[in-house]
Amino acid sequence: MVSWELLLGDCLEGMAALPDGSVDHVITDPPYSEAVHSGRDAHRGLSGGRLVSVPSFGFAHLSDAVREEAARQFARLARRWVIIFSDAESTHLWRDSCEAAGLQFKRTGVWDKIVVMPQISGDRPGVAVEMINIFHAPCAGKSRWNGGGRPGIWRCSPQDAAQGAKRVHPTQKPDGLMGALVADFTDRGDLVLDPFGGSGATGVAAIRAGRRFIGWERDPVFHAAAVARLRAAREQLSLFAQPEAP
Ligand SMILES: C[S@@+](CC[C@H](N)C(=O)[O-])C[C@H]1O[C@@H](n2cnc3c(N)ncnc32)[C@H](O)[C@@H]1O
Repeated sequence: MVSWELLLGDCLEGMAALPDGSVDHVITDPPYSEAVHSGRDAHRGLSGGRLVSVPSFGFAHLSDAVREEAARQFARLARRWVIIFSDAESTHLWRDSCEAAGLQFKRTGVWDKIVVMPQISGDRPGVAVEMINIFHAPCAGKSRWNGGGRPGIWRCSPQDAAQGAKRVHPTQKPDGLMGALVADFTDRGDLVLDPFGGSGATGVAAIRAGRRFIGWERDPVFHAAAVARLRAAREQLSLFAQPEAP
């Protein structure tokens, strides 16, 4: 049975109330570093004498304290994979925080964005990739994923964010990208946690693939938009579901 729950509120408080080892995986896209957020804000206003309009993200950058506490909760809650998006400059911070919390570092993967926003300032190359920091809960044997010997690169254009539907979040991850991660790291029936829910992209991918989902989003506008997307994904699944064998 595919179930989902996206709670409105602060995920650190929410996660603290969950029992140890109560989710199978964390797949999450927390806010990025202060440098990413302030770089975005610096693009608003004049560029080369022209007024450019680059909207701010609408949520705050990640602090060291939140990253460290989130890593502690991920290590306490996850039975298997912990997959965390970040900007390239923050991968070492996530690695330090997650290893200090007891998670095993497995690989730094790459989201190749294929079609990227031009560097409006023109003074350096634009950002072509985002990082996918891959950790696992401590385990005695080998860790297991569904990708075999494939390299850790996922290619997907941000323009495919909602596969034709209107985007509801400024940093919405493409449904195809999240679907690939869910397929690669989780199994049918698993419980996937995304504490920084945004538009609900992880949850939508989880539901479509027959996984269970729990998450948080603290902004009421994003939360409402995500709930609508999750509800639609669940309804669509019911429409196409095969009747269960008696
Ligand atoms: C990078 S966005 C996630 C985008 C999402 N992956 C998507 O595809 O739509 C991070 C989200 O985390 C939310 N957030 C930040 N701090 C939070 C917290 N402490 N608790 C819950 N949500 C938080 C922000 O409001 C923002 O929507």
